Amino acid sequence: MSETHDPQGRCNVLIKNARVIDGSGASSRDADVAVEGDRIAAVGALRDWKADETIDAKGLVVAPGFIDVHTHDDLEVINDPGLESKVSQGVTTVVVGNCGVSLAPVKAGIELSTLFKLLGPESEFRFPSIQSYRDHLAAKPPSVNVAMLVGHSSLRSEAMGVDLMRGATDVEIAEMRDRLSEALGQGAIGMSTGLDYPPARQAPTDEVVAIARAMGPHEDAVYVSHIRNERDRIVEAVQETIEIGRQASRMAIVSHHKCAGRKNHGRSRETLPIIADALKSQNVGLDVYPYIASSTVLLAERIIDCDEVMVASSEPHPEMSGRSLAGIASDWGCSEEEAVDRLHPATAVYFQMSEDDVERIMAFANTMIGSDGLTAMDHPHPRLWGTFPRVLARYVRERGVLDLQTAIHKMTGLSANTFRLKDRGLLKAGYYADLVLFNPDTVEDLATFENPKQRSAGIDKVMSNGAFIWANDADTGSRPGRFLTH
Ligand code: ZN
Ligand code: CU
Repeated sequence: MSETHDPQGRCNVLIKNARVIDGSGASSRDADVAVEGDRIAAVGALRDWKADETIDAKGLVVAPGFIDVHTHDDLEVINDPGLESKVSQGVTTVVVGNCGVSLAPVKAGIELSTLFKLLGPESEFRFPSIQSYRDHLAAKPPSVNVAMLVGHSSLRSEAMGVDLMRGATDVEIAEMRDRLSEALGQGAIGMSTGLDYPPARQAPTDEVVAIARAMGPHEDAVYVSHIRNERDRIVEAVQETIEIGRQASRMAIVSHHKCAGRKNHGRSRETLPIIADALKSQNVGLDVYPYIASSTVLLAERIIDCDEVMVASSEPHPEMSGRSLAGIASDWGCSEEEAVDRLHPATAVYFQMSEDDVERIMAFANTMIGSDGLTAMDHPHPRLWGTFPRVLARYVRERGVLDLQTAIHKMTGLSANTFRLKDRGLLKAGYYADLVLFNPDTVEDLATFENPKQRSAGIDKVMSNGAFIWANDADTGSRPGRFLTH
């Protein structure tokens, strides 16, 4: 990085005496950071620069704003544009449309499977195109930047109606390919699948490959997958994802990689070498969240082999949010399966991973950090509010699984590079001024499974596109977020 020593410089915001960690994985250095407009103007010894606003960052780390590569914030950035759950962690960009479910494109009046409740109620699906979603964000911008994937289940719902328990026909595949091309033309950055979920799991590999190939001319578009199986068939599912990426000639990203169910603990020892091997000949990425519990819709097939299941929300029984399924079943004098039935539609937190796998996956060179946070729950998994500070507190400071610059790299430079987000993810002159200032000694997640909606400690300031969006433990009210395209 070129150092600037121009004593005559001026800028809008000057951050002095910072410990800069630039997101590339390089170790920290002491420097000042100048921001002009929406960009970083200079990094170096700038103490004599004139600025409209000067901030003394002594004792703080200044890093690129965190990129949450795995979110379901599609609707949240519209309904709650301050996005406190993420901004309070230092996040400045969210990738939405994951796990095969995107808010757009979905034509009005289409019947949607339960899975779509992960984003919000059916009535909220009112964006028939990426353009209409993008226009909405341009008119009412959020605090953070938003990049969008097109969900395979969204495409299927449009092309196949409610007759989803089968593979798509050639005609339907052609329609989905057209919709995907149109979406990419309007700025979507790739497609996502959720092949573990009914009814999307009915889609054979060939269907996914045929649709993914429609990304053809969009070289940077990525294929992102909540893979077909995260339990007993985890190895086959990782292999399938790599194969789809290979056949569609693009970056394939394994979402929230985990080995679920007691008898699969330790199997990241099998999956990570498979990914490492594939990396020799193609682009593969993966992300992880720093918890041993997962969270999604409540399904009987998913409670098997869990240490504990906690209900996160239930439409008929909202009063059961935050309670254990075993406790509810015993109160009701029924089996857990029966309780699942009665709670439906519902969401849950499943304790089913091992700490060992979480650490091994996190330490893998190509692993990014993504929260997979779900907002449409009364009692959400704490990852929604705690993911990024938790990595810095627990996995950097306490357990030493990562050093600080590597952890930051997995939240910034690696993420921007994997998702091809231009001029983001590095603290470097010319790049967008997406920044977080935090105290490396006190940064900590405070969200817990019992009390999940808690801001983190130690996040001092957050800037997106040159404007502060978080300061003094509060939303500044500024809404500089943009829709990011390739
Ligand atoms: Zn998922
Ligand atoms: Cu997800």
